Amino acid sequence: MTGGGAEFLDDAAELLGRHRDVLPNWLALYYKEPIELVRGEGTRVWDSSGKEYLDFFGGIVTTISGHAIDRIVDALREQAGKIAHTSTLYLIRPMVELAERLTARSPIAPPDGVDVKAFFVGSGTEAVEAALLFATTWRRSNEIIALRNSYHGRSFGAVGITGNRGWSATSFSPLNVSYAVPAYCYRCPLHLTYPECGVACAEDLRNVIETTTSGEVAAMIAEPIQGVGGFVTPPPEYFPIVKGILDEYGIPFIADEVQTGFGRTGVTYWGIEGYDVQPDAMVIAKGHGNGMAIGAVLSRADMMESLKANSISTFGGNPLATTFALANLDNIEEQDLQHNARRVGKFLMDGLKELEDRYDVVGEVRGKGLMLGVEMVRDGGSREPHAEGAAQVMEVTKDRGVLVGKGGLYGNVLRLSPPLSITEEDAARAIETLDVAFREVQEKV
Ligand SMILES: Cc1ncc(COP(=O)(O)O)c(C=O)c1O
Repeated sequence: MTGGGAEFLDDAAELLGRHRDVLPNWLALYYKEPIELVRGEGTRVWDSSGKEYLDFFGGIVTTISGHAIDRIVDALREQAGKIAHTSTLYLIRPMVELAERLTARSPIAPPDGVDVKAFFVGSGTEAVEAALLFATTWRRSNEIIALRNSYHGRSFGAVGITGNRGWSATSFSPLNVSYAVPAYCYRCPLHLTYPECGVACAEDLRNVIETTTSGEVAAMIAEPIQGVGGFVTPPPEYFPIVKGILDEYGIPFIADEVQTGFGRTGVTYWGIEGYDVQPDAMVIAKGHGNGMAIGAVLSRADMMESLKANSISTFGGNPLATTFALANLDNIEEQDLQHNARRVGKFLMDGLKELEDRYDVVGEVRGKGLMLGVEMVRDGGSREPHAEGAAQVMEVTKDRGVLVGKGGLYGNVLRLSPPLSITEEDAARAIETLDVAFREVQEKV
């Protein structure tokens, strides 16, 4: 690991000044002294001073294969040299191939005679927006059920269904939204304890439908693991109960797999498969493009094709993005990254659980595969959220060459979501670094 000279630090400071002048003040930046990442290779990134970091956040749960993977870069270069943009008014071979691959892998199980189809867009927000459009048109209803503590994006509709006031407090939604109770066991909204609770949070959905909707609900949308909400990981019974209730009322279920898709949770391709539930539609982005701007909706064709008006996405499915995503998919499958995520994820989880036992400021370690959250608290007894502690951990780990993310309603949950290609040595280094950081936070309490 190399440190940068003063001229490089001046470089970042100068860029920060320009950033603040021309970009909105709500565009959050990490760290007291924000850094510019200028290069990446596999699980490593380098800043403009030349300092090397182990990337344990992956560009917000996105860089799933790793940085600058040769086969993905080569595929992009080749396609860029041929044609970058045509619009979907013309046939696009990589888009068709990608749709075939994704629909074949989707867990959506429509009734006989109904296909699964894909529609490509440029981001997760747009994918959520499109899924809402399909569901509301299909069901002729603007009623949506979402979860408290959720995050679905920053557009009019997507932020409107986001159940986290840190992101949605100033939005005005055109949708009629009911918020159901998430399975946030560490801070159970019902003040119960799993498993004695009987997963009452899931059972409460029936009451939400009966008391706050007309019964004609367009869809329920939920993240299999709440990402921005702090990697809140429901127990195994949660989604099967929720889906059973939705089926009783004939309400479609949309799984927001923007963070949990593509093997991130280590068990299967999709987070919702870990719950053995078959959604009616899914939204995907982030890991789908390994950094390329691409999102998609996969859904039952009858839902998607309920649109009777024209629709288009100028950039959705463009040759560059779909070629990149196809090469990423090849890489994930050939390298068997979801199994690596399961194996190294277990190693990381075991190491973090050990730290949870040692440090009172580590309230809970949770998650699946390589989507692991660490909830920082002032002490294990009060469970008071410790946002400053999380911020301090981030500074200490950054100084020591490991980048981690944070989230949660109180900004006190560290988020670990490295590329799925990390090794046990990488995980061991992250654990050692977090050990040092937790000790420093503990000493200050
Ligand atoms: C679960 C979920 N859905 C949707 C989005 C929105 O995706 P994007 O930022 O690509 O618009 C995000 C982004 O963090 C997300 O985590």
